[in-house]
Amino acid sequence: MKNLNKIIITSTFMAILLLLLSITVSVSAKSDTFKPPDNYLIDCGSSSQTTLPDRRTFSSDSTSSQYLQYHGRQINLADQSADLPLPIYKSAKVFDSKATYSFHVSKTGWHWIRLHFFPVKNKEFKLQETKFTVIAGETLVLLHEYTPKGIEIREYLTNVTTPNLNIMFSGEKDSPAFVNAIEVVSAPDMVITEHIDALFPVGKKIDGITKFSFQKMYRLNVGGAVIGPGNDTLGRNWDSDQKFLKPQSAAKNISIAPNVVTYLEGGSPLIAPPTVYASAVEMGTSDTIAPNFNVTWQFDLDHSYPYLIRLHFCDIVSKSLNELYFNVYVGGKIAISALDLSTVTNGLSVAYYKDLFVEPSMVSSPFLIQVGPLNEPMGTKNAILNGVEILRVNNSVNSLDGEFGADGRSATGPSRGTVAAVGFAMMFGAFAGLGAMAVKWQKRPQDWQKKNSFSSWLLPLHAGDASFLASTKTSLGSKKSAFHSSTMGLGRYLSFAELQEATKIWDSNSVIGVGGFGNVYLGVLEDGTKVAVKRGNPQSEQGIHEFQTELQMLSKLRHRHLVSLIGYCDENAEMILVYEYMEHGPMRDHLYGKGLPVISWKQRLEICIGAARGLHYLHTGAATAIIHRDVKSTNILLDESFVAKMADFGLSKDVGMGEAHVSTAVKGSFGYLDPEYFRKQQLTDKSDVYSFGVVLLEVLCARPAIDPALPREQVNLAEWAMKWKRKGLLDKIIDPNLVGRINPESMDKFVEAAEKCLSNYGVDRPTMGDVLWNLEYALQLQDQEKTEEGSNGTGSTLENDAPLAPAVDNRPVTTPSQNPAEVQVIEDHSGTAMFAHPANLNGR
Ligand SMILES: *[C@@H]1O[C@H](CO)[C@@H](O)[C@H](O)[C@H]1NC(C)=O
Ligand SMILES: *[C@@H]1O[C@H](CO)[C@@H](O)[C@H](O)[C@H]1NC(C)=O
Ligand SMILES: *[C@@H]1O[C@H](CO)[C@@H](O)[C@H](O)[C@H]1NC(C)=O
Ligand SMILES: *[C@@H]1O[C@H](CO)[C@@H](O)[C@H](O)[C@H]1NC(C)=O
Ligand SMILES: *[C@@H]1O[C@H](CO)[C@@H](O)[C@H](O)[C@H]1NC(C)=O
Ligand SMILES: *[C@@H]1O[C@H](CO)[C@@H](O)[C@H](O)[C@H]1NC(C)=O
Repeated sequence: MKNLNKIIITSTFMAILLLLLSITVSVSAKSDTFKPPDNYLIDCGSSSQTTLPDRRTFSSDSTSSQYLQYHGRQINLADQSADLPLPIYKSAKVFDSKATYSFHVSKTGWHWIRLHFFPVKNKEFKLQETKFTVIAGETLVLLHEYTPKGIEIREYLTNVTTPNLNIMFSGEKDSPAFVNAIEVVSAPDMVITEHIDALFPVGKKIDGITKFSFQKMYRLNVGGAVIGPGNDTLGRNWDSDQKFLKPQSAAKNISIAPNVVTYLEGGSPLIAPPTVYASAVEMGTSDTIAPNFNVTWQFDLDHSYPYLIRLHFCDIVSKSLNELYFNVYVGGKIAISALDLSTVTNGLSVAYYKDLFVEPSMVSSPFLIQVGPLNEPMGTKNAILNGVEILRVNNSVNSLDGEFGADGRSATGPSRGTVAAVGFAMMFGAFAGLGAMAVKWQKRPQDWQKKNSFSSWLLPLHAGDASFLASTKTSLGSKKSAFHSSTMGLGRYLSFAELQEATKIWDSNSVIGVGGFGNVYLGVLEDGTKVAVKRGNPQSEQGIHEFQTELQMLSKLRHRHLVSLIGYCDENAEMILVYEYMEHGPMRDHLYGKGLPVISWKQRLEICIGAARGLHYLHTGAATAIIHRDVKSTNILLDESFVAKMADFGLSKDVGMGEAHVSTAVKGSFGYLDPEYFRKQQLTDKSDVYSFGVVLLEVLCARPAIDPALPREQVNLAEWAMKWKRKGLLDKIIDPNLVGRINPESMDKFVEAAEKCLSNYGVDRPTMGDVLWNLEYALQLQDQEKTEEGSNGTGSTLENDAPLAPAVDNRPVTTPSQNPAEVQVIEDHSGTAMFAHPANLNGR
């Protein structure tokens, strides 16, 4: 009877699942085809229409004349004898004076412009010696003093906002201009979206993307064959990557059937067809004993333009989820740290792409795109890439070819040297500069209070940035706009009034956190977005310092497992940071003291894995290693779907290139502090690892790191738990809610990781990468148990994902203090300090 129920439930479930599936399938099938509202294909200089092997038909020149505003001689050239790959190259139209094609645009938005050139042989015109300029839409320079040598196809993507798109051809001096074929075709809106991250500095968002125009430099179907326009969803051409692979021996092709590839909701084959995702290159010798190398592709790029790099990924190599993690480097910089396709796509063979914006100063020659395994002792060593697109972005004078704009302005301006130097300083010296200025500022707090805000010290620095982006601008314009346009990495600017409104005039009921720095309020922005608003107390010197540190850190960091900055406000001497709101608050609240529903072991593991990912990224992902310095369960926040994110970078420290540690005064929180750091006053990333070890024990035992209410030997969790571990009795002190719901092997792996983290000497502790690996393994062990349970059918005592009963916890647990300052008070009074000189510790 019971089984029958189960079957009925299962089949209902399956039916719903099928229904859902069929919905998704039909959605993707619909977006699969795109009927361009504008679709002009012109075979210039030809007297009859031409159908290509890919079945696209180019209309003849007699029809094309209706688009052509040209009053010179009509010159059609044709060379029927030539052996050419496509018939459109057999004819050309030659202009001996300025000529403009004008196409009616039925729907504004993205359009492809493709120009086909081949200097047809002719006695009167030596087309291979022509030199001409092509300008689209009055201001966009497509080609400048251009001389086509053989068959050349130029492809552009531009957002047309006018009712007509004009394309003007004009010869230089006495040279004629010519063209063999023109395509002007609408592209769907999704082809380029508004929000794109900079490659460097990490986390900087690029604004105004829809105003940029692009020229395709490279589009590669990595690991697969050429895909012609007839086989692409949007008539694009995808080349093979073979000749860019250096060395080819490092790589191996892999492919699956294209019909296996699926797309995420919101994704679409219009981004790239399944055939692109169905083939990839993986590490050539991924299973040998020396698997630590990158697979590298080399490109030639002119470093006077920015570029948009689009990387396509699809895990077609893994047998199961969470097997594949790898790093992606662009231009020698880490572009995606520990890319985990299983997590981002939640499945295998699911298409995923990532866009990156590369500033000219980041463009080197040769330009490298690399994928390689994480530098971790364990785990699968492989890395893949399925497709690459490299699009040149117009320069500041709206040119895609040469330094001059349509109006003759030069992109380099009169003082290229200075501008470049400022740009360079911005890239590499900015944060050092910030630090220096911050020191000066701190010495004169009165000045600071009189002067209006932190923008006064950000301004001189970022002004360089602004002039770098728009290098023709000589003056900064108004102070405010220069500042705003230059702080993209800091999120958007919010006015004090807006924030006052959002927090109901700093309503004390909206306070969701209190820190040394000031209060944190829950706010609701006008568009309904919930945010956490951290309002600084300018009287607090420590606050000012932490505020600066946090700003510096957040401006260069962005990661799924780090809480991100939405904006800031510096009006009226305020120091306000606005973050994404984390619905479920600190992880600690879900472990003890708040009476919240118990979270399962699997959920706890997932949270720890998320936090470990965030820390791993801090240690290895950015240009310099960053030590968080205040890892604890209250600084791990959970969003609405319990995704864990590291927060509070007020104490974080940069470790300079090549340095192993920084010497610094000891700061941190009691109970989490690395004893070695305390002894030597030298901070390393292993100090975070120690603190994380304490967090792991907290998760397992559901009690605070320091609990002064307990008998003396139990106060310090790390000491106490390790004592029980040595006795082999750790399972006696774990969270009673976990008893019987935790796979013993999973727990062993977890405890092993915690114990290693808590090693006395930093060198003996694992890296965050290793910890991550262990936790993932622990999660697998837990999952495995569940699968076996499922196949057994009788059920077992192990947990499932159904909500558990409310917490039962009979152990004496005092309400933990949330305020770090209180921790110190408790510590001072209880006299059970773990360290000898609590006075040295800086009130955290
Ligand atoms: C094209 O540009 C206009 C004006 O900047 C903008 O409103 C529009 O959203 C852009 N179109 C697309 C598809 O991005
Ligand atoms: C990989 O595939 C490409 C395109 O099909 C092919 O040219 C190349 O030879 C293949 N490489 C190897 C190592 O098989
Ligand atoms: C499209 O792909 C099929 C199968 O690979 C191939 O036979 C055909 O030539 C391709 N067509 C074009 C226009 O590239
Ligand atoms: C992979 O490439 C990156 C960037 O060029 C480099 O920093 C890293 O050391 C390389 N890894 C290996 C194992 O060579
Ligand atoms: C490209 O041109 C547009 C329009 O002139 C301009 O707004 C944009 O800033 C240019 N892009 C860059 C990167 O300078
Ligand atoms: C299911 O597991 C239980 C407990 O481990 C065992 O006694 C039982 O024989 C198993 N049943 C099946 C069908 O495997």
